[in-house]
Amino acid sequence: MLSTGVKSLDELLGGGIAPEVLTQVYGSFATGKTTLAVQIGLLSDGKVAYVDTEGGFSPERLAQMAESRGLDPEEALQRFILFTPADFKEQRRTIGSLKKIVDKSFSLIVVDSITAHYRVEEQRKNLTAELGKQLQVLLWLARKHGIPVIVINQVHFDSRAERMKPVAEHTLGYRCKDILRLDKLNTPGLRVALLERHRFRPEGGMVYFRITEKGIEDALGGAD
Ligand SMILES: Nc1ncnc2c1ncn2[C@@H]1O[C@H](COP(=O)(O)OP(=O)(O)OP(=O)(O)O)[C@@H](O)[C@H]1O
Ligand SMILES: [Mg+2]
Repeated sequence: MLSTGVKSLDELLGGGIAPEVLTQVYGSFATGKTTLAVQIGLLSDGKVAYVDTEGGFSPERLAQMAESRGLDPEEALQRFILFTPADFKEQRRTIGSLKKIVDKSFSLIVVDSITAHYRVEEQRKNLTAELGKQLQVLLWLARKHGIPVIVINQVHFDSRAERMKPVAEHTLGYRCKDILRLDKLNTPGLRVALLERHRFRPEGGMVYFRITEKGIEDALGGAD
């Protein structure tokens, strides 16, 4: 298991981010998805394969988070192996290439986000099947190397359900056994994480957290 660096969030997740499965983290913009994924990688002791499709990964932010935690920013930056596919087809190739790149020096794979390119090309034929295939490859990697894979997802407004829903909900839902939803609250910097699905924890549990210079921290400011 990899720690999120927030004790209450680790507990919500049954100990942390689990190896050998896909964990989906979804939510609206600026809810802390990227910060959470980067923090988990930062606190792990191996390399992180970070597939950034949105340009949301910031080396400055990673260095800032490392420094404010008393970690070496240079060392942290070197552990993050960044991939920036320009479209969905390139994303497929990037994920496929991870089969050759990822080895036992890696502790985590992040795809941030899996659906940014997908949404742009949504009307194309067989796109859902293609998304399914990418998820299969990620699951294979998670199992083969015994590491967690974090799949970040965006939301869209479902007018029939009259609420925000994850993009490609069913395609991702079948393959992501643990699902965490992040939401903003009225107080600036304050967020809530809701456990929407888990293999062995009850659904519906929630934890409040803050986004700070350090990354994400317990909302109560307690020990993390
Ligand atoms: N040094 C900092 N101190 C406090 N908050 C910060 C700091 N740096 C960034 N933030 C906040 O973090 C939030 C963005 O977090 P993050 O990028 O993780 O969100 P996200 O869910 O990935 O968003 P998106 O969907 O746009 O990618 C913003 O509200 C921003 O103000
Ligand atoms: Mg982001």
